[in-house]
Amino acid sequence: MTTESVPASAKSVAAEAGRRRTFAVISHPDAGKSTLTEALALHARVISEAGAIHGKAGRKSTVSDWMEMEKARGISVSSTALQFNYTAPDGDDDAPANVINLVDTPGHSDFSEDTYRVLTAVDAAVMLIDAAKGLEPQTLKLFQVCRHRGIPVITVINKWDRPGRAPLELLDEINDRIGLTPTPLFWPVGVAGDFRGLLRRGIDGAATEYVRFTRTAGGAKIAPEELLDPSAAAEREGDAWQTAAEESELLSATGQDHDQELFLAGQTSPVIFASAMLNFGVHQILDTLVALAPPPGQRLGVDETARQTTDPFSAVVFKVQAGMDAAHRDRLAFMRIVSGTFERGMVVTHAQTGKPFTTKYAHTVVGRERSTVDTAFPGDIVGLVNATALAPGHTLYVDKKIEFPPIPSFAPEHFSVVRVDSASKYKQFRRAVDQLDSEGVVQVLRNDIRGDASPVLAAVGPMQFEVVVARMKAEFNVEPRLEPLGYALARRTDAESADELGRQRGVEVFTRSDGVLLALFSDKWRLQYIQKELPELTLEPLVATA
Ligand code: G4P
Repeated sequence: MTTESVPASAKSVAAEAGRRRTFAVISHPDAGKSTLTEALALHARVISEAGAIHGKAGRKSTVSDWMEMEKARGISVSSTALQFNYTAPDGDDDAPANVINLVDTPGHSDFSEDTYRVLTAVDAAVMLIDAAKGLEPQTLKLFQVCRHRGIPVITVINKWDRPGRAPLELLDEINDRIGLTPTPLFWPVGVAGDFRGLLRRGIDGAATEYVRFTRTAGGAKIAPEELLDPSAAAEREGDAWQTAAEESELLSATGQDHDQELFLAGQTSPVIFASAMLNFGVHQILDTLVALAPPPGQRLGVDETARQTTDPFSAVVFKVQAGMDAAHRDRLAFMRIVSGTFERGMVVTHAQTGKPFTTKYAHTVVGRERSTVDTAFPGDIVGLVNATALAPGHTLYVDKKIEFPPIPSFAPEHFSVVRVDSASKYKQFRRAVDQLDSEGVVQVLRNDIRGDASPVLAAVGPMQFEVVVARMKAEFNVEPRLEPLGYALARRTDAESADELGRQRGVEVFTRSDGVLLALFSDKWRLQYIQKELPELTLEPLVATA
């Protein structure tokens, strides 16, 4: 593909957008996100054996400090986007395959604001739940962001090959704790630990088909499936089938059937039971994404004008990753394409500065692998190399101007004062703070009492502080000193309330670099007490993450 190639017509952009599904997996560590990612990729035949992407043992060794940090902690600091083609087994062979974009969320309990920002780049989420554990804290936090952004959620109950909880009990938990109505598309045949297959639910919960699984060695290959009709299934599985059929009908009696409108409105969630490890139920997840998850759609700009997918090119930067390759000191800005066709080399406008920006180096990044992207369409994720002016929330466009709303900043829960001891390093230190602030690595808070030399860094996850320290050392040659502050939560306030709040014990008011006034509280009891005693004060939650 050359830079002179003619942009695809609106019709073909519409077709390209229509066959794309861009989603992320939200889960608590250990629920099986990496295993599921491999299994999905296995089904899409982008890799020949599970383990090629995640493969803890097979992780490539590299020289960068950044990766040293990753290796030391055994985690992936960087988000990656995995793209693959997928044709449903019963799909039309002549129709073009679907294109699946799986945007990875950093997979550690010590997650950061990036984890949330990824969710601004997707059209749907798969909520992955461990069958033995049910809903866990990180899943709940991420789910709240999906709800806030109106992202439809498909629920996958994983590890059904292992002893776990009763299926109806798991559904009740989802309903009771987060108010999302689970609407299973399939129902497991066999209790957790005895996963035989899936009953496909039809009208009123009646079984239409039985998908029977066969194990393969280590789950490294696609599990063969046998399709049986309900009477053959009853004969084959006896009581296990009977129980599944009865439970499935019971679900319909309580209204737990799929409704596309309610799903898209975020009120219901299709449920699939699976074993990512054995590759059971995995292609059903892909089929569900293709059939039910929304394709990329229009987005509203700050002035409320809609950018349709067929409009000229536009994209939103949702993540900036620096220092991925120490040898080149590069910075990758990941953008999600909203409209039009992206052609590598095209000159786009950076809405925030009005300046032109040449997209000569465009990559997709999967794990440590980068490959050049020549053309991309709405829903796709592209990493732009050395895009120093770009920060999360920024817009790029061609032709008709558009600026998308900024990505909301999420409620920080960790706070540290940052300083340098050596006065001779102060200038670099200031530059570093400004740079990391503009990239959205941490939020930077200041107030008159503490002064300019010791700003407060605010983070959603403490790992963000480690990133600050590592980057200040590597890129600015300053050795910062961080001192944790005893605050645990933040609320947005206003100038009228700030004085009174400043007089309260266990509270401190700051101005964030975007001008927002934040009151920090030592704990939630302090906050509750003040809200009760001084109800006239403005104390608004930031984007809910808890
Ligand atoms: P994460 O990315 O969400 O943190 O989870 P990951 O895929 O690493 O899985 C966490 C553990 O759960 C792994 O075991 C993995 O093998 C196991 N697991 C994932 N999916 C399933 C499943 O469907 N069934 C069963 N039985 N286990 C599953 P581990 O012992 O911690 O690591 P490993 O040595 O297997 O890599």
